[in-house]
Order: sequence, then C-alpha cells, then structure tokens
Amino acid sequence: MGKRSLRDLKDLASKRVLIRVDFNVPLNEDGSISNDRRIRAALPTIRYVLDAGAIAICMSHLGRPKGDPKQDAIYRMDRVGQRLSKLLAKPVKKLDQVVGPDVVAAVHAAQPGAVILLENLRFHPGEQKGDEAFAAELAKLGDVYVNDAFGTCHRTDASMYAVPKLMTGKPRVVGFLVAKELEILERLLTSPARPFVGVLGGAKVSDKIGFIKRLLERVDRVLIGGAMTYTFLRALGHNIGNSRVEADKLDVARELLNLGQGKITLPMDHLIADRLDASATTRVVEGPIPDGWIGVDIGPKTIEQYAAAVGQAGMVVWNGPMGKFEDEPFSRGTRAMAEAMARSSAVTVVGGGETAEAVEAFGLDEKMTHVSTGGGAFLEYVEGTPFKALSILDEASER
Ligand code: 3PG
Repeated sequence: MGKRSLRDLKDLASKRVLIRVDFNVPLNEDGSISNDRRIRAALPTIRYVLDAGAIAICMSHLGRPKGDPKQDAIYRMDRVGQRLSKLLAKPVKKLDQVVGPDVVAAVHAAQPGAVILLENLRFHPGEQKGDEAFAAELAKLGDVYVNDAFGTCHRTDASMYAVPKLMTGKPRVVGFLVAKELEILERLLTSPARPFVGVLGGAKVSDKIGFIKRLLERVDRVLIGGAMTYTFLRALGHNIGNSRVEADKLDVARELLNLGQGKITLPMDHLIADRLDASATTRVVEGPIPDGWIGVDIGPKTIEQYAAAVGQAGMVVWNGPMGKFEDEPFSRGTRAMAEAMARSSAVTVVGGGETAEAVEAFGLDEKMTHVSTGGGAFLEYVEGTPFKALSILDEASER
C-alpha cells in the first residue's frame, strides 16, 4: 500500500500547507547556488498547493550549520528564497526566523496563493535533535503536512518526523516529488525490466556496501568503475600502481566479489595518469597498472563494453562516476555512460549526488527516466533501511 498523496486531498482552499522540502542545494564558496535541481524538483508540489488556493509554507535545512547564524550566514535561506521566487515567478516571503511570534504572525497574515519560506531549520538546535517542543512550534503553523523532501527522508530531524507525528488528525501526505521517487524505486526493487544492469562507481566501496549487496540480489549484471575499481582489483591481487585504494576494505571487496560471482564486471582497461591533475600525462593500460601511475577513468575498451551492456538492458540504475570526471581529461567514461543511458530504451535511473550533477553537467538529465534528488536517501532506500519519516505519514487507504 502506498502513501497518501497531496493529490488525494480535496478542498485545500485557504488551508495552510506546511511543506517540508529539501532545498539543501550545493553552494559555491561565495554562498551562491551552484545547482538548483532540488528547488526545481519541488515546484510541482508548491504550484499545486497555490493553484488550489492554499498557502504554501515551505521549510528546509541548508548545509550543516554549526548553530551560529552569524558564522553560518552562508546558510541563510535568502538566496534559496530568491531562486524559488524566480522559478515560481511570484514573490516568496522569506522569514528570518525558524519559529516564534513573528513566524506565527506572518503565517496568519498570509493570503491564499502566498508562499512563505522559513529560515534554515538547522539554525534551531531542536531540528537535528528531533526535539518535540520545537516540532510543536512548527506543527501549529499548518493545517496539512506535506513531505516533499525525498533527499532528507533517511533523517529523523524534527521537521521530518516529530512534526508530522504531532499533526495526528490532520492530513500528512507525500508531495509529488516523493511520490515519484518512491514509485520508481519500488519498481527498481520489485519488478525491474530485464536485463537489469547496475552501474557502480565513485571513490569508496565502504560508502555503498549495503547498497551493493541489495543490488546484487536483484540485478543481472553490475558494471564497476570509479576509484572503487582499484579496491576490487587489489582484493583480487592485481597491481594497481598508486591508484586510490581502501586498504582496510579488501575483505569486504572479496565478500562482494564472491556474492556477485558471474554478475560483477571490472574494467578491462584503464586511463592512467602520472598525477591527479588535469594537466597530467596520461595513457591507457590493460592489465597491471605500473608503479607511480594512478587509475583515473575506465579505458576505451571498457567504455565500449559497458555502453553495449547498457544498450541491451531493460533497466539501468547508476550510482557513482566512472572516473575523476570533474577534470575534463578524465571525464570520458562518465560521459560515455551518461550518453549510453540517454540513448538506451531501458528504464534509466540515476542516483542523486555527484552522479546526478554529472548527468546534468552533460545536459543529459532530461533523457533519463528518473534522476533522483536523494544522495544518501537513495542509497539507504535501495539498501532497505526503513524510513521513519515516511512511516509516520498517512497510508493511501486513509481518506
Ligand atoms: C542530503 O543532501 O543528503 C540531504 O539534504 C540531507 O542532508 P544531511 O546529510 O546534511 O542530513
């Protein structure tokens, strides 16, 4: 049974709809927004609320502030509010407090169709503690609670769990973004089109052990790339030169290789560099990586092999870049995977975080079936971790 959705609610007119969004967007050093995908992803829910004649009260965390708003000025929600206003093409009343009398007054003064954005929830010490007194202050702001923050669903911060818990008796539903994420993830976990291919990269095996294990139970094939390749190759006794390795995770890598026997494919060739710099000298090798050289991307034969596997797949899930893609000379493998997925007729799902950013940077995000807004949440959901933030929401049968 799925979760009750915003679309199931009738008569939202003049209601105060408290929407937990994930506006935790990546920032440049000067505090400007480097990627607004998470804000854009929440627009359908916010627009729906406004079109229904309700008041949208948006709340989110941004970054990991230490609790001092002066020091953490970069994490104020002003720029997010400005971007939201631009995207919605209407004013957004960004408040300077998270809770308190000014917030209550602003919410009470708001007219149908208005958008309010609270200050960064993590400026309040109660947020990450899941504090119920703090949650009660937020809960009283809304007649309806909407969780549209998929990227934060693996957290039990007050706004994610205690707030809906305290709003018993009022509708507590998922927004369109969360509904879409859950639908595609359930499909991936329960009825994937076959062959089902996983493409896994990124720096560390250790970040993704549970994810890889669960995926191995479901996929027909896993294609490995990124720096995690070298931990697997070292575990198999291969010479990996000076490539990045998790020396304390060789046993885990062996266990995964064992579990995935016949399913896991490791790169057959590598782009190697004499240092980790875009201006480094590079060459392609098959077999052992010479001492002093570092693996920085999958090689051309591997690209061809992996692209062919993606082309024949019924469903593809991709998490983690194939190389150090932020340096253009090392980005070929990652770009080729994105292109192969974009070309493929398979259901294509891209895990959030840096994989999503890479696909966007290549301008191919629109060509994917789904690009998740969740980084950690995406991994944990696939891993099978129950999300308390979702369990507290109404079931679809509760009308
Ligand atoms: C994310 O970016 O993964 C979410 O917004 C959660 O942020 P957090 O890892 O700081 O809790």
